[in-house]
Amino acid sequence: MCGIVGYIGDKKATPFLVDGLKALEYRGYDSAGVAVFDETIELVKTKGRLKDLEICLEAQPLSGTMGIGHTRWATHGEPSYDNAHPHMNTATDIAVVHNGIIENYLEIKHELQKKGYMFASETDTEVIVHLIEDTLKQEVHEDFFSVVLAATKNLKGSYGLGVISHQNPDQIIAVRKDSPLVIGLGEQENFLASDIPALLKYTRNVYFLEDGEAAILTKDSVKIFDESKRELKKEVFTVTWDIDAAEKSGYDHFMLKEIFEQPKVIKDTLNGRLSHESVEVVLDQIKIDEEVLAKVNKIYIVACGTAYYAGIIGKELIEKIARVPVVAEVASEFRYKDPILDENTLMIVVSQSGETADTLAALRMAKQAGARVMAIVNVVGSTISREAHDVLYTSAGPEIAVASTKAYSSQLIAMYLLCMRMGRILGKVSDQEFNEFKAALLKLPDQVQHILDRSDEVKALAQKHKSMKNIFYIGRGLDYAASLEGALKIKEIAYLHAESYQAGELKHGPIALIEKGSVLMGLLGQEELMEKTISNIKEVKARGADVIAIALEGNTMAEHVADDVFMVPKTHWMLTTLLVNIPQQLFAYYISCGLGHDVDKPRNLAKSVTVE
Ligand code: AGP
Repeated sequence: MCGIVGYIGDKKATPFLVDGLKALEYRGYDSAGVAVFDETIELVKTKGRLKDLEICLEAQPLSGTMGIGHTRWATHGEPSYDNAHPHMNTATDIAVVHNGIIENYLEIKHELQKKGYMFASETDTEVIVHLIEDTLKQEVHEDFFSVVLAATKNLKGSYGLGVISHQNPDQIIAVRKDSPLVIGLGEQENFLASDIPALLKYTRNVYFLEDGEAAILTKDSVKIFDESKRELKKEVFTVTWDIDAAEKSGYDHFMLKEIFEQPKVIKDTLNGRLSHESVEVVLDQIKIDEEVLAKVNKIYIVACGTAYYAGIIGKELIEKIARVPVVAEVASEFRYKDPILDENTLMIVVSQSGETADTLAALRMAKQAGARVMAIVNVVGSTISREAHDVLYTSAGPEIAVASTKAYSSQLIAMYLLCMRMGRILGKVSDQEFNEFKAALLKLPDQVQHILDRSDEVKALAQKHKSMKNIFYIGRGLDYAASLEGALKIKEIAYLHAESYQAGELKHGPIALIEKGSVLMGLLGQEELMEKTISNIKEVKARGADVIAIALEGNTMAEHVADDVFMVPKTHWMLTTLLVNIPQQLFAYYISCGLGHDVDKPRNLAKSVTVE
């Protein structure tokens, strides 16, 4: 998720471009740039935050009245000057900014390289500007707008584009497919942006571009066309939100926004790795093959906090599917326990930020001992991603709220894909099993959406339990692993004591804590273990507990034993952990809101723990 902007009018473009990008920095902040037309296209870009770009612009002020800008969240190619946007063609007379992912960029790149096009970056985006130049050279299109539309027809994936060219200094071209684009209407000026926050200081009158639509912005007109270049008459939408609300797309908090982004995050993390046509899971450039696995006699999964809890699920699944023993370790413990590490060890580190000090230290220990290190990371170009041998990026986009939600779900997706890849390599998974897994995994985004559509039910549950002083979570097997994350969320943002137990462990001590009015959440995602967990729920009910069960649709037994039941759609046993966790996230969120806490910036916590 990046942020793009565009300005065309009577005034200097740069002030709006920089201001607009600042308002979009929550979408990505690892590099930025602008391209402004003033007799030629002048480009200023840099690695780093917007303030770094401002320093560059002080040294190289731009006075043109038409331009585009970009703030980046790296997906392809680490944060660097070359990978920063805008990207230009070799003749530097076309510039492009892009938000989204071009899935077939490698194919296009190879085709263009065969034609002699030189690439300056590792990005997927750069293929677009060379493709536009190549289409222009064909001289079959009546105007530059048609050239851009023809070029984008070759792209697979998602894109919100801003294009300017030397040939057409009086217009900005915008094209949208699966990435948001908004056009702001002004007096003798018009604006382009990925999202409303960039525009609010300048106008409240906007057009939302829909998928497949494209637009030509000039300083005194905006024309919008559909895919077959028919001009459209669109409604002007007047925005009433304030900037803070807009950054959150109208959600009250980044955490809630990020919870509701999960269907898209799951699709993005599966993107290019598993589709209906797939016969195998494709894991980017990860060198996990027969040769590597044959050498491995020990797998460690090492991480902290929520990432560690995703790691525990990874451990369970790799052991069950690939039949390889795995040890999941908390990084701060691991680094001081003199672990058995050697060249036959595979270490998998998991980290959203890619900067967590303890996890990084564990990585370095493993490398020193000759082990192979694979990282599951969300931030492209982060220290852990740079130092690991292999990197499996999650595509959660920037996670602003301290309490991790969408990153956890994307880490689970990465674990599902990894354990299936290993299982297939080791011949432990039949084609039929693979196809069942694939079908279920590809259904997950819609199933998560189905749960989110019923968030009010969870809100009511939180309202009912708003005065609880503590809460217990129980589950068996993968449910227990998922309940650990539920308990952590309540601790992090509601500041309530929450404990997660293996359901069968209760009667060996913890059940002594249960009394009349104790609140307990029981996870019933694992059908094989469901009856066992039901009997544990009966044990706590008998001691007066108030039980909320999260169960699979159609589970009538849960309705008989629990006070409240939230049903999630049925899915493959490997995947229930992701679905049962969504109501846990929402429950913690609504409890925290009910207590009036700063949900996005909870006390005593930091988004990335870069110290020991
Ligand atoms: C989770 O909500 C917390 N922010 C925290 O536990 C976090 O998961 C942990 O600090 C690890 O961070 P990382 O994924 O960036 O390495």
